[in-house]
This record gives sequence, C-alpha cells and structure tokens, in this order.
Amino acid sequence: MTHSDHLEACWQRWRERLEAYLDRLLPAANAPPKKLHAAMRYAAIGAGKRYRAALVYATGTSLGASEESLDAAAGAIELIHAFSLIHDDLPAMDDDDLRRGKPTCHKAFGEATAILAGDALQTIAFEAIAAELVPQIAPARRLQMLHVLARTVGSQGLAGGQAIDLDLVSKTATCETLATMHNMKTGALILAAVQLGALTATDDQEPLQHLVRYAQPLGLAFQVVDDILDGTSDTATLGKTAGVDRALGKPTFLSVLGEGAARQYAEKQGRQAIAALEAVTFDTSLLEALARFTLRRSH
Ligand code: IPE
Ligand code: IPE
Ligand code: MG
Ligand code: MG
Ligand code: MG
Repeated sequence: MTHSDHLEACWQRWRERLEAYLDRLLPAANAPPKKLHAAMRYAAIGAGKRYRAALVYATGTSLGASEESLDAAAGAIELIHAFSLIHDDLPAMDDDDLRRGKPTCHKAFGEATAILAGDALQTIAFEAIAAELVPQIAPARRLQMLHVLARTVGSQGLAGGQAIDLDLVSKTATCETLATMHNMKTGALILAAVQLGALTATDDQEPLQHLVRYAQPLGLAFQVVDDILDGTSDTATLGKTAGVDRALGKPTFLSVLGEGAARQYAEKQGRQAIAALEAVTFDTSLLEALARFTLRRSH
C-alpha cells in the first residue's frame, strides 16, 4: 500500500468518526430554538473534505494518541472552520450562494440565523475542548489548547486575515501581502489543527516546534491552491461558485503570478513543509502524504 492509499483509508475512517462525533456534540435539530439548531447542523455536518480534522488525527496518532482522544480537537477545528465558512459566504463578505454543493447557510436559513449559527458553532468548539473528558489530556494542556484556538480565531488570525481580504478588494497586492493574509485567514487554523493534534498526544514541546515549521507553509500552500482552483476549475467540481475572486476584484496568487508561477509557489511551500518533517523522530508518512494531497487536490 502506498502512503497515499494508506492516508485515504485512514481519512475515510476519520471522516466517519468525525461525523458521528459532531452529530452527538451538536444540539438536536428539533431542540429549541429549532431553526438555529437546524442551521448549525446544516452547515457543520455531512460534507466538506475534513482536511483540518485529518491533520488533527494524522498528527495526534503519529505521536501516539488514540483516535478517540482526538475527536474533541478534530471536532473543534472543523466547527471553527464551518463557522468561518458561514460568515465568509454572507452578503457582507463574499456574498456566495453555494457551499459544499448546496445553498449557503444564509440562503437556506436567512442572514440573521446564519450569523447566529456561526457564532454558536464557534463557542461549541471551545466547549468541546474545555469539557471533553478524555483523562489523558491534563487540565494544563487543555488550557494550552484553548489558548491556541482563541489566538487562532481572533484579529491576529482568522478574523484579521478576513479583514485584510476585504480591505484588498479592487486593489493590487504583492505576494508578500497575500502571503500574510493567507497565513492569517487560512494558515492559522491549519497550524492550530496540527498543534491541537500534538497537544492531545503529548506534553513534549520539542516535536511541536518542528510541526509548526511543517504546518505554516502547508497552510499557505492550501490557500494558494484554493486561489488557483477558484480561477481554473468549475462550480460543479468545487461545490462552490468558481471565479468569485475575479468577479469580486480580489487580488490572489493566481491574479498576481499567473497559474504556472502560482503552482510553483505552492509546490515550494509543500517542499518546505515536507523538509521540516525530516527533523522529527516519529513516523511522518501520514503528514507527508497530507502535504502531497494539499498540492494535488481538485476541490
Ligand atoms: C475552504 O476550505 C476555505 C478555505 C480556507 C480555503 P476547504 O477547501 O477545506 O473547504 P471544505 O471544508 O472542504 O468544504
Ligand atoms: C476563505 O477564503 C477564508 C476563510 C477563512 C473562510 P475564501 O473566501 O477564498 O474561501 P472560499 O473559496 O469561499 O471557500
Ligand atoms: Mg473569503
Ligand atoms: Mg469565500
Ligand atoms: Mg476561495
């Protein structure tokens, strides 16, 4: 079995675990307020690649954690991601109608409910880490995880990156500016996935340092590929509207560099991510396969 086949088999299992975990974690759709709970489940359960969850499970299991102990971190990261997608699609932001092959949350439930669903999904992410009862995660480490997650979502991470993204509409940008924005709006959560996976597994800060050098270029590569796919793929393949960056006047790696150089840029980040794994002593084949997937993905 190749490393990529092995990753695919694990990923399928992780996906199933995650769906079952989120189904247990989120309030039932018929629990009041019903519309809000239905919107939360609509946006968070049943679709998406679950790339960030895969990073949590791959990192954690490579460091010796059980899959069960990683459910909370994987679920939390995917809930933050789902919340960020709901808000990203709102009329005030990217004004998108299609997400994961179905109408966006605000198209299906209205804008006010979609805003609240995003807010509520975000707090459940923190609740999952704080309240989760896996005995191997000591309280001090759990606190560190909450700290990582809080920093990731705030103005110096995801929210800040989204603010830069909106500021750049109709403007030109350098690759350096775009890289800073990408590191914040997308890279921060991908880094947090790796950090939370590691923190679930171990107190040891040493592997964490190397994993940060893996995750940072990986997160940048992920968003550069998203930019390329937005402008070169089609809506049916992506499950979200193709060509929106250009239509909205957003500068991207594709618009600034062109497809060939943007691909090369992403590949360079991918190589850096894989090179960072050379310094660690545990089996990194899953993380390496995930880095390769990041570059070759089609949606
Ligand atoms: C889309 O992320 C948003 C970005 C940060 C680029 P994904 O491509 O992981 O979306 P899903 O979760 O598979 O729908
Ligand atoms: C996503 O960037 C950033 C987020 C934090 C959600 P995009 O706006 O390019 O994501 P898509 O293409 O809509 O998924
Ligand atoms: Mg956006
Ligand atoms: Mg968008
Ligand atoms: Mg995009």
